[in-house]
Formats: sequence, C-alpha cells, structure tokens
Amino acid sequence: MDKIAIVTGATSGIGKAIALGLARKGFRVGIVCRNRTRGEAAAAELAGSVPGAEAEIFLADLSVLQDVRRVAGELRERYPRVDVLVDNAGAHLLRAKVSADGYDRMVATNHLGPFLLTNRLLGVLDETARIVVVASEAHRFADPFEPADLAEPGRYGPAGSLRVYGRSKLLNLFFTQELAERLKGTGITVNAMCPGLVATALARDVPGAGQVGGWLSRTPVLRRPEQGARMALRLATERRFEGCSGGFYSSTPGARALPGARTLKDRALQKAVWERSSHLVGLPGPIVLGR
Ligand SMILES: NC(=O)c1ccc[n+]([C@@H]2O[C@H](COP(=O)([O-])OP(=O)(O)OC[C@H]3O[C@@H](n4cnc5c(N)ncnc54)[C@H](OP(=O)(O)O)[C@@H]3O)[C@@H](O)[C@H]2O)c1
Repeated sequence: MDKIAIVTGATSGIGKAIALGLARKGFRVGIVCRNRTRGEAAAAELAGSVPGAEAEIFLADLSVLQDVRRVAGELRERYPRVDVLVDNAGAHLLRAKVSADGYDRMVATNHLGPFLLTNRLLGVLDETARIVVVASEAHRFADPFEPADLAEPGRYGPAGSLRVYGRSKLLNLFFTQELAERLKGTGITVNAMCPGLVATALARDVPGAGQVGGWLSRTPVLRRPEQGARMALRLATERRFEGCSGGFYSSTPGARALPGARTLKDRALQKAVWERSSHLVGLPGPIVLGR
C-alpha cells in the first residue's frame, strides 16, 4: 500500500521542497493549498520531477475555519490512512487583517488553521504516523500575550508584524509540545522545526526584504528551499527520529547556543493555549484517535 503524506502550503518555498522530497522517498502526496492554479502547477512539477510520483491537491484557505473543516473531511475520505502530516503553510502579513471568523488573520493562518486541521486528521493517522510542524526561531520575537487574547490582532506598526508573526510561531511550538503530551502512549509523534533563513516568498511584503535578501544571498546565511526542507524531511522519514516527540529542531546556525524561550517550559501556559485554541476553533473536549 502507498505511503501517504499530506503537506500544507506546498505551492512554493519550503513546502514545495518538502513535498518533492517526500515524493522522492516514495510517498503519495496530498497538497493542501488555497489557489487551484498554483496547486496544479506544483502537483504537475512534482509529477514531472519524480518518475511515477502521485500528487493531488485539496483546496482550503487555512485562515478560514469552515474551509479547514471541509478539507479535513475530504482528506479523511480520500486517505483512510496517513503516514506523514507536515503543517508547513504560513504567512507573514505586514498589516493587521481580520480572518473570516473574526480572528487575527496571521494567527488564524499560522496557528488556528493548522491546529484544527491536525486535530481533525488524528483519526486517520497511522499508528506510527509522524507530524512535523514548520515553526521558526522567530518565536523569540513574540509579543507578550495572554491565552485569552491569542488570536487578537496585536500592534502591527513598523516592527510589530514580526512580533505577531513571532507569536504565531510560538503558538506552533506550544501546539507541538501539548499535542506530544496528549499523544503519549500512542505511536504517533509530533515535532517542530525551524528551516533557518530561507529565500522564499514569505517576506515578500516586508519593506527592504528584497534588498536584504539580495545581500544575504551572497552568504551562506540565506538558504535555498531544498536546504530549508531538509530537517522536516529527516523528522518525517529518518529511523533516527522514530519515537521522538515534542521536540523543536532548529536548523538555524548558532541557534542551539541561545537559551530557549522561557515560556516554552511553562506547562500551564501550554495547556491554557491548547484549551483556548480548541475553544476558538470549536473543537469539543479531548482528542479522539480512530475513525
Ligand atoms: N522562509 C523562511 O526564512 C522561514 C523561516 C522560518 C520559518 N518559515 C516557515 O516556513 C513555512 C513556509 O514558508 P515559506 O518560507 O516557504 O514561504 P512561502 O514560499 O510564502 O510559502 C508559504 C506557503 O503557505 C501557503 N499559504 C499562505 N497562507 C495560506 C492560507 N491562508 N491558506 C493556505 N495556504 C496558505 C502559501 O500559499 P500561496 O502559494 O497561495 O501563497 C505557500 O504555499 C511557514 O510556516 C513559515 O513561517 C520560513
């Protein structure tokens, strides 16, 4: 039977490189994307690059909870058993925008959508499935927030968008830690990673990003998407990570020398963020495995 991987945001950048890498390793890939044309182009590129590869697209705007519920249903119908789920899609918005459900749109895209999608797919995950969350060292820039306000628009302003983006990436890490706790005793694992600084479309709206990217591209600091995808692919497939769960694997050079964000040790905050996120996306009580 085919091994199945689902990758969100595989129309460009790191997600596309992850999808390609998984296809090369023999996975059939389900691409969750918001734009049909870009999705079809990515699926065609994948099929063209890897002989015999199969990729299908599933449309959803991850910032829209109704879309996420629908696409989770479509994925469950299509794939009765999933081996790998990569929560990769993300955005860095410069200005505060409100999602269809009334939340900060960047937090909805980067955290609430993936939170709901993953929870809705738990029932079809194989008993040794691996979940990989594409987070970021930018979690260190998070603005201070209370769980009750986690999806409130922050102060965007000149440097503020990085603080809200940082918050959304810190939420990715809380999600990974708490999900790992809740999955203890099952064979399913979840880990987060940072791809390093990668030349993608992520910062396209950030003023000066093109120029800074141009300078950095002459140094080893700025990576290609294939390099950014490497750690996610290792977590998703290497035997070495079998049974490892709840970790944050940063591939940013030098990051290991930095102390971890203090909030990442706060179990009560982690739990409170989970409870609040569940409430915001309308999930009932404890997670349920099995269909
Ligand atoms: N680039 C970096 O240096 C860096 C560093 C650390 C972490 N990351 C993380 O890496 C992940 C991938 O980003 P990237 O750098 O590869 O950027 P990218 O090239 O802009 O790719 C982002 C992907 O997410 C999709 N996406 C954005 N908003 C969406 C929504 N509302 N619904 C569904 N899909 C949506 C995009 O779809 P469209 O094609 O439709 O726009 C695209 O496929 C993100 O989670 C980002 O936070 C990146």
